Amino acid sequence: MPRHLLSIFDLSKKDFKTLFKRAAQLKKEKKSGKSHEALKRKSIGMIFEKLSTRTRVSFEVAINDLGAACLYMNPSDLQLGRGESIADTAKILSSYLDGIIIRTYEQDRIEEFAQHSTVPVINALTDLGHPTQIAADLFTIVEAGKKLNKIKLAYVGDGNNIVNSFIGAASILGFSLSVAAPKGYEPDSEFLKKAIESGNGSIEVINDPKIAVENADVLYTDVWVSMGQEKETKKKQKIFKPFQINNALLSLANPGAIVMHCLPAHKGEEITEDVLEGPNSVVYEQAENKLHMGKAILEMFLKT
Ligand code: CP
Ligand code: NVA
Repeated sequence: MPRHLLSIFDLSKKDFKTLFKRAAQLKKEKKSGKSHEALKRKSIGMIFEKLSTRTRVSFEVAINDLGAACLYMNPSDLQLGRGESIADTAKILSSYLDGIIIRTYEQDRIEEFAQHSTVPVINALTDLGHPTQIAADLFTIVEAGKKLNKIKLAYVGDGNNIVNSFIGAASILGFSLSVAAPKGYEPDSEFLKKAIESGNGSIEVINDPKIAVENADVLYTDVWVSMGQEKETKKKQKIFKPFQINNALLSLANPGAIVMHCLPAHKGEEITEDVLEGPNSVVYEQAENKLHMGKAILEMFLKT
């Protein structure tokens, strides 16, 4: 049975420690021009059913840097786009490839693919979670000199895939997480239940961003409208107005708090431009770290 990364719960505390250490090494080596062909002669496929800039390109470069071949497959060029089953696609593609990275809609789609795949499947975002993003983000927090078991992370905004994965991570790593989302837009309840039951982090979901950011060391937000929800844009733009990271909200957090966003950002909606570009922001480091963490993840799941 191959080891898949379908959800944040597929990573243990020990895995996170290994990933942080390895991503730091790989980052240093990349900067010094040292190459590492840990996945030489492997072929890795990527199927993205939603748009992507960071995840797609960082994984493609990571695969190249690790000496493997990358095959990007546009789903509409595959028979999958004409109705071939996920099961058959998974059986066939996994007989050619050594690993498959997938971005899709419902979590069930990637779960079904993995069930029929004989090679590791990595989740590059579903409606439910974005585990590789959260691994890179947590590495960025560690790099910023924060101790994960001591921080309070405040997430302000939509209860989406990003926050679901943070909820899982808080329970695995034991950090304190306060989520402020409008009523009716809270994170996935099953995910929350699983995290609260299985973990040791302190997780709260409230509706007041000011309370969430009190004593916070990390402020995080994401778009109000995720991919696939475009029809809700107008409605959400009204409801989410008070859920913006701006200087007034930032001033309520701990001094030296860092501001994070997985990007792409809608400046003036979930975050103001001055905060996104300001001294507390680490968003560009976060984006760069997707490359280094992507490599660490590929090594962990695909190296034989
Ligand atoms: N953060 C992130 O996943 O960005 P992309 O959608 O550009 O991959
Ligand atoms: N929540 C966003 C994240 C994009 C990286 C979305 O799913 O569109």
